[in-house]
Amino acid sequence: MLDSNLFHYNGTTLSCDEASLAELARTFGTPLFVTSAKSLIDSYRVFELAFDALPHFTCYSVKANFNLSIIKTFAELGCGCDVNSGGELFRALQAGVSPNRIIFAGVGKKPEEIAYALESGVLMLKAESLSELKAINQIAGEHGKTASVAIRINPNVTAETHPYITTGDSKEKFGIDEAELPEVFALIRQLQNIRLIGLDMHIGSQIFDPEYYVAATEKLLTILNASKALGFVIEFLDIGGGFPVTYDPLKPATPIRHFAEKLIPMLLPTGVKVIFEPGRFLVANASVLLTKILYKKRNHTGKEFFVVDAGMTELIRPALYQSHHEIQSVTRHENTIIADVVGPVCESSDFFARHRAVPDAQEGELLAVMSSGAYAAVMSSNYNGRLRPAEVLVNGSEVKLVRKRETYEQLVQNELV
Ligand code: LLP
Repeated sequence: MLDSNLFHYNGTTLSCDEASLAELARTFGTPLFVTSAKSLIDSYRVFELAFDALPHFTCYSVKANFNLSIIKTFAELGCGCDVNSGGELFRALQAGVSPNRIIFAGVGKKPEEIAYALESGVLMLKAESLSELKAINQIAGEHGKTASVAIRINPNVTAETHPYITTGDSKEKFGIDEAELPEVFALIRQLQNIRLIGLDMHIGSQIFDPEYYVAATEKLLTILNASKALGFVIEFLDIGGGFPVTYDPLKPATPIRHFAEKLIPMLLPTGVKVIFEPGRFLVANASVLLTKILYKKRNHTGKEFFVVDAGMTELIRPALYQSHHEIQSVTRHENTIIADVVGPVCESSDFFARHRAVPDAQEGELLAVMSSGAYAAVMSSNYNGRLRPAEVLVNGSEVKLVRKRETYEQLVQNELV
């Protein structure tokens, strides 16, 4: 069982809440991202409940899924936003998020992005180097502003996850090295247009063991004491995101309350407001990628392939991180067949499953690639001239088209001949 029970068989047909996926495919075509609004809300509530005892502010990390309607769904629940670029800031503002509920991160912010964040009035910018602190100070001065800043610490904790998504290790580009902190604090004292209000970390993504958070938080707390001793008034401790979800029922994620049980006793006594930046936790299991089986084929070795109409251009996670996504047929089948489920893109890495027991569905039938809410649509591309899919949001029996399918005209609209 995946974390969300909003995708379930209604009789023999897979449904999202009260909407039949077969019906959605008929109306909107495939490939199609289908998101359950209730599942988004449930995940947020579960997260908030776990950390209820701790004064905190949850900022949805919009990089996981930046569809305006999804950002808006969280904003309406009182959630803030973590953005990583001018584009994500623009999206959050377009979705109606109030700027003082937005925090701006990113290891390589351009001067115009810093200016945009300051002009918008975001709650804080996170700085990841001495040079960036100087840049923020200068741009704030030019705009007649004082920039509220958190420094992102690299706690040198190597969280066990896929190597591409571990970020708190000294060999990675992220954050400021602890050894550099005396220089950082000395610099901040001199910078006229910066106010240090937060300490920040983010140690990676899809982290199963709470002990990595404990180890990194201990370091953050030591730095908190050091900064207080220097006279800084720290208002926020940002613990980042990275909380895990279940992709494979055989490898269930550690429940969020286990993280809360470890972190609350450490953070509560500080009296400082804590920020969390969950992305995946809030959205991963709220969406499926609906795709049609175009062809089935079998080669001389007996190997079976399901060629479907979605591919790595819509969900690159299996190709990039060897990640597992469950595959269900929209019409329930009792029998399974060992097959590769592959897309139409000209790359051998274009697959959703390899040598996996999948429902023995026929050509023309629909498959749902599960847990496609996080880092799927946002990482989609036009490679091979493919059109980004449509996206729908389901609430009960109400269905809203929240992103139109791209058109061929849009593929060439920015090109000049
Ligand atoms: N805060 C910061 C500063 C981040 O860099 C990230 C994710 C998050 C929060 C949210 O992390 P989450 O709660 O979603 O784990 N594309 C990869 C994941 C990349 C994560 C990047 N940073 C994947 O598909 O697994």
